Amino acid sequence: MEYKINCIGILTSGGDAPGMNAAIRSVTRTAIFNGIRVKAIYRGFRGLITGEIKEFQTQNVSNIIQKGGTILKTARCDEFRSSEGRKIAYERMKEEEIEALIVIGGDGSFTGARIFAQEFNIPIVGIPGTIDNDLFGTDATLGYDTALNTITQAVDKIRDTASSHERLFFIEVMGRDAGFLALNSAVASGAEAAIVPELETKVDQLAELIKNGFRKSKNSSIVIVAESEITGGANGLAERMRIEYPEYDVRVTILGHIQRGGSPTAYDRILASRMGVAAIDALLDEQRNIMIGIVDNEIVHVPFTKAIKHDKPLDDKLMGVLHILSI
Ligand code: F6P
Repeated sequence: MEYKINCIGILTSGGDAPGMNAAIRSVTRTAIFNGIRVKAIYRGFRGLITGEIKEFQTQNVSNIIQKGGTILKTARCDEFRSSEGRKIAYERMKEEEIEALIVIGGDGSFTGARIFAQEFNIPIVGIPGTIDNDLFGTDATLGYDTALNTITQAVDKIRDTASSHERLFFIEVMGRDAGFLALNSAVASGAEAAIVPELETKVDQLAELIKNGFRKSKNSSIVIVAESEITGGANGLAERMRIEYPEYDVRVTILGHIQRGGSPTAYDRILASRMGVAAIDALLDEQRNIMIGIVDNEIVHVPFTKAIKHDKPLDDKLMGVLHILSI
């Protein structure tokens, strides 16, 4: 007998990321194209508990491919962490005749989704949406490329003032203990160094930087720092500099949530469009409990357990490139 899904739910969860709307559009239109009804769930898993649900037609996703944020809103939902909360969510799904879910989010969202799928035997497919790019099994997550470009533009501006005043800037970027944004934006903006949590456990990166003759031939410098308690972040490092190396004129810029906003790049829009189609294809192919990923420009399926549990390694070679080019 042919496997058939009649109605899916779609939600966005965790931190928003540019490209989420393009993915909502792609999932909605691909589902409708395949004769599947689409119920949009607002405010992440919370909307599934409270019943903030609306059926979408193709026109509900018109004119959103270029928009940042998520039209479905997003939330981090404590109630969904409890089995009582998930039971209510399941009852709501039945009431709404939702047979499968597409979850667009990061590792926290997929952790919840995995438990929910197992408890109630629900087909769930994830689309990676986070600027941090910290999910294992995919080269890129939605929003990462846009955030990288936003950071690069901001650093270009800071460099003007850094060089005019001959200062050392620590610029903090997001990443929730992952150094992808920091390392890649450092290369893209021609920064002198990136300080990332992945390396701090092995070496004191600030001390190394100074020891290796940092700023020998320069009178201003930019160091990109990934937010992290392990390194102390930009403020922690600047504080250390002021105490240990008072000869430097140090300033700190924390880019913050500006990195999460803005219109998605063409790359993120295309990735979102491909992943949305792939997510519906996967459901129709009876796949469940997987995240859609992209590896070497090919769509792949990654089990939730792998995507969440494995640490994605930083590219050592790129760290080498940064090091060589910063002399
Ligand atoms: O997960 C994306 C992210 O931007 C992280 O890099 C950051 O630590 C976190 O979200 C901040 O999220 P919020 O301020 O929304 O809690």
